[in-house]
Amino acid sequence: MEQNARWIETLAEHALASSQVDQSLYAKYEVKRGLRDINGKGVLAGLTKIGEVQAHPEGRPDGPGHLIYRGMDIQDLVAGFWKEGRCGYEEIVHLLLTGHLPAADELAAFTAKLDAFRELSHGFVVSILAISSRDVMNAMARSVLALYSRDERADDISLPNVMRQSLELVAVFPQLAVSSYAAAAYRHGGRSLVLRGPKAGLSTAGNFLRMLRRDEEFTPLEERLLDLALVLHAEHGGGNNSTFTTHVVTSTGTDTYSAIAAALGSLKGPRHGGANAKVLQMFDDLKRRVRDWEDERAIEDYLLALLRKEAFDRQGLIYGMGHAVYSTSDPRTGILRDRIAELAAEKGMEDEFALYRRVERLAPGVIASERRIYKGVSANVDFYSGFLYSLLDIPVPLFTPLFAVARVAGWSAHRLEELANRGKIIRPAYKAVAPRRRYIPLGAR
Ligand code: COA
Repeated sequence: MEQNARWIETLAEHALASSQVDQSLYAKYEVKRGLRDINGKGVLAGLTKIGEVQAHPEGRPDGPGHLIYRGMDIQDLVAGFWKEGRCGYEEIVHLLLTGHLPAADELAAFTAKLDAFRELSHGFVVSILAISSRDVMNAMARSVLALYSRDERADDISLPNVMRQSLELVAVFPQLAVSSYAAAAYRHGGRSLVLRGPKAGLSTAGNFLRMLRRDEEFTPLEERLLDLALVLHAEHGGGNNSTFTTHVVTSTGTDTYSAIAAALGSLKGPRHGGANAKVLQMFDDLKRRVRDWEDERAIEDYLLALLRKEAFDRQGLIYGMGHAVYSTSDPRTGILRDRIAELAAEKGMEDEFALYRRVERLAPGVIASERRIYKGVSANVDFYSGFLYSLLDIPVPLFTPLFAVARVAGWSAHRLEELANRGKIIRPAYKAVAPRRRYIPLGAR
């Protein structure tokens, strides 16, 4: 066994030695690493009419960030359904997929269709158990690929068929996530197995909570806050890694299930969808090290230790702070923060909420004291979403899957957009920089 490990290590050492590229060549050939320019701004790779991520309003570099869905500001969209005391995710899915907000009768018909699509067959649910994985995102990707074989028109990429597939995926994602979690907790965590199905008439958020909880109960506030998180995670422009992955894979002409499984694989990465779980773990560590949560000096010292790789996971990061595009504010953060205060109070977690607010206020200054800040750093949506999920008793392994439950709407809209525009196959260039060598016959090596 040890010999085997050593052999593989040697192969990996060869791979490393033959793969490492002289860093100066990236500048010489003006390679846009990570498809970003020298200032970290993404290179223009496409045009979209679905979502816009705006660092600040034009001509106001110190202004707040904006998130726009189909030309409408997320602040206005949220204010619209929030003040009417109803859930908004379903109408946002309609907006993203079709380009317009549904009228009341359209929305009723749309949610009834989602209800009809939610039901997975008994056989399929059992198969989720069979393909269970320690990682819920991995299990979801496998389930999505398994859905391919149950679709008689799986390879039909006409817009009506892809729209039908998209609605089906939006509808079943909550159950795929919760059942995959239950299967993992049973097979790998020794928990007893209870699999609940969806219930017609419930929102996406309500269904998720009902299927997850043993008593199947949840309060209207819990449902609305989870719904809000789904709305805020549903779409984020074409450049975020999983949505761009959807464009790349869709541009080959492949089927919907392959494209969405690839997007799930992208979102699983800790540099993309996994940050909210990291925030929660970082706060657990902070609470262990800083006894007095009102001691701002001690909090700043802890944050400094994070940046200096002396605390938590020693990666030098304060999780939940900063964003590749937003600068002075991520619009999603305030929307979430302002609305979870009530739930935090209901659950007796005001002190913890106050600690989050304190860190949100102190961290930008601490980061600025240690790093060069080009565009401003502020709390991103993940800073509060993990806290919200913990208030809702959602287990950490479901945090990233929950992101997928929301974002499958954005992925689907972008897949439809890619198909509607019949774009070219996405195929950037890589310059080969290895020196040419002579072939040596087997006997002479
Ligand atoms: N912790 C530590 N350093 C941070 C930071 C953070 N949370 N946010 C920004 N910085 C640093 C950057 O690394 C950069 O320093 P460098 O030039 O020495 O590398 C400097 O501050 C300026 O950063 P900026 O240009 O504003 O952002 P970026 O594009 O370099 O980084 C992230 C954006 C998201 C990668 C970064 O903020 C980060 O890693 N955040 C923590 C993880 C997280 O919450 N991710 C979820 C994003 S939704």
